[in-house]
Amino acid sequence: TTIELIGVPTDIGAGARGASMGPEALRVAGLIEMLKNHGLIVIDSGNLAGPTNPWLPPVNGYRHLAEVTEWNEALHEASYAALQKGHLPIILGGDHCLGIGSISAVARHCRATGKDLRVIWLDAHADFNTSELTPTGNIHGMPVAILCGHGPEQLIQIGGVVPAIDSDVVHQIGIRSVDEGEKRFVHQQGLEVFDMRYIDEHGMRETMARALDGMTDNTHLHVSFDVDFLDPAIAPGVATTVPGGPTYREAQLCMEMIADTGRLASLDIMEVNPACDVKNQTALLAVDLVDSLFGKSTLMRDAK
Ligand code: ARG
Ligand code: MN
Ligand code: MN
Ligand code: MN
Repeated sequence: TTIELIGVPTDIGAGARGASMGPEALRVAGLIEMLKNHGLIVIDSGNLAGPTNPWLPPVNGYRHLAEVTEWNEALHEASYAALQKGHLPIILGGDHCLGIGSISAVARHCRATGKDLRVIWLDAHADFNTSELTPTGNIHGMPVAILCGHGPEQLIQIGGVVPAIDSDVVHQIGIRSVDEGEKRFVHQQGLEVFDMRYIDEHGMRETMARALDGMTDNTHLHVSFDVDFLDPAIAPGVATTVPGGPTYREAQLCMEMIADTGRLASLDIMEVNPACDVKNQTALLAVDLVDSLFGKSTLMRDAK
């Protein structure tokens, strides 16, 4: 497998500055060396370029809509090109609005190649707001809704087909912060959400078994990893921490069970914010977890 790293140094969709430093933090934390240790070929394509953050208030329920569009169009093209070459893209965010460009590209690739898409969305948040529902106007709270066709024309059509994905391809894990109106919309659209209560009651093992159930050798598995998924006690380097997230052991098991499927074909690592971090520990932890996502295990196992 050839991995292609695509850095996207922007915080254009967030409500705090700093996720723009995420790509470099992940490189400094040893991401490339870790991947090479798995025997993978790693191409670091460097960082995409885009507009600076004008840091303006929302207009009609969207903050920085024009700039969010520009960044996501650039990311869509870069991701799609990587997938067409047969590469496994890893998107280094950047805030989670970049899920729009990344996953619309994966969906387009799946349509072109006849693959079945499954998205595992690891997050404290559902990111399912619309301009009417959002309390903030921050577009990083909207990418899942936008991918499902609910959002501004210029964003929902980035992949060429609207909606880019059906809501039933998305399986969310770790959710514990959903806004009032967003809650109703999640329910109405039938999104599959394994929230923290579900994980508390059933454990991470059963949760992941369900979320990964029914995949075949024709499945393209995309993981969108918002590092605020993790409990802030172990991952303080994000702007939107929410208490009560998965522990280190739960997060490791989650990654290991995804690795065991052998279907991982694209990955986002989003919202790492060095301005909120201490000694880059959150990027280091993300690299440690992605190590497990690519199959690191303590003992030799039969999986795959
Ligand atoms: N739901 C909140 C909002 O809409 C927070 C979203 C946080 N999203 C994220 N990708 N960190 O503003
Ligand atoms: Mn998110
Ligand atoms: Mn989040
Ligand atoms: Mn399903």
